[in-house]
Amino acid sequence: MAERVKTSAPGKLVLFGEHAVVYGYSCIVTAVDQRMEVTVSLRQDKKLLVKANQVGVTRYDRDLSELGRGEVPKAVSFIEFLIKNFYQQYGICVGLNVFTHSQFSANFGFGSSAAVIAALALALSRLFSIELSQIQLFDLCFQTILDVQGVGSGFDAAAAIYGGTLHYAREERAVEPVEVSNFPLVVGYTGIKADTPTLVRQVAELKRQKPKTVEGVFIEIERIVVKALQVIKAGNFAKLGTLMDKNQKLLERLGVSSRELEELMRVSRQEGAWGAKLSGAGGGDCMITLVADKIRKEVETAIEECGGEVLQVKFGAEGVREE
Ligand code: PMV
Repeated sequence: MAERVKTSAPGKLVLFGEHAVVYGYSCIVTAVDQRMEVTVSLRQDKKLLVKANQVGVTRYDRDLSELGRGEVPKAVSFIEFLIKNFYQQYGICVGLNVFTHSQFSANFGFGSSAAVIAALALALSRLFSIELSQIQLFDLCFQTILDVQGVGSGFDAAAAIYGGTLHYAREERAVEPVEVSNFPLVVGYTGIKADTPTLVRQVAELKRQKPKTVEGVFIEIERIVVKALQVIKAGNFAKLGTLMDKNQKLLERLGVSSRELEELMRVSRQEGAWGAKLSGAGGGDCMITLVADKIRKEVETAIEECGGEVLQVKFGAEGVREE
């Protein structure tokens, strides 16, 4: 048994299909090259100690017998529930130190929670010499996401575990790699943190009120996802941009866009972008815009001039790994 293990998992961005994916449709997600790092080590006592300074957790400790009980602070809830689920499943009760370090801000909507549990699940499997397949890692992470936030499609856990660019559908836990050579995307962060569970519940409420309309929107989104897969294969970015615009219009109909997101999209299109859409739950976080290399600088400047922050990331990054 190892004494100490360090792992990392990538953040992610949704390219197409958010929200509909919660209801069994599919999405396209890509892992980004900014990673969440997790270090675990054994303790002599029966405690869990977590340090995650970047999210304000300088020191959190908990008896193992208390894991997942009572009020669990939000900043450590994913970590605590993942350990609880892992320990229960494999009959382990050993004291643990968990330190996390992220290469990206938890505010970007890059899926820091999914990345932290993916990295932690691999770290625990290595620490206790329990060989886990990618699908077993995925199931552990998805269960933890549902335990903590009650809603979600698991696409973020899939991206963190498998990496690359994926066509994902929740029902079959189907992940198909999507071959992309270069993706000329610019990522603009609004500066506003979105709350994913709130937005997912908001869409659920709209679906309750207008089931036919919302189901119709999901079906149209699914058509766009399928089309986008073909267009990505053909490398037709102009067409892909048009599909992004269409997907965005549908997300607006679900009421999850925001003024700040739309402003960043507007200036990008004005500079000649092929298309733009929000990425993720909406309400804030990031927008993505597809641009030809020759106008990339202009688009980036326009985004910054209207208050956005351009995030420099590479796409299709490697999935969870031991460092
Ligand atoms: O907010 P993000 O980036 O984690 O994306 C949420 C995407 C949703 O489809 C709205 C929710 C989900 O779990 O699929």
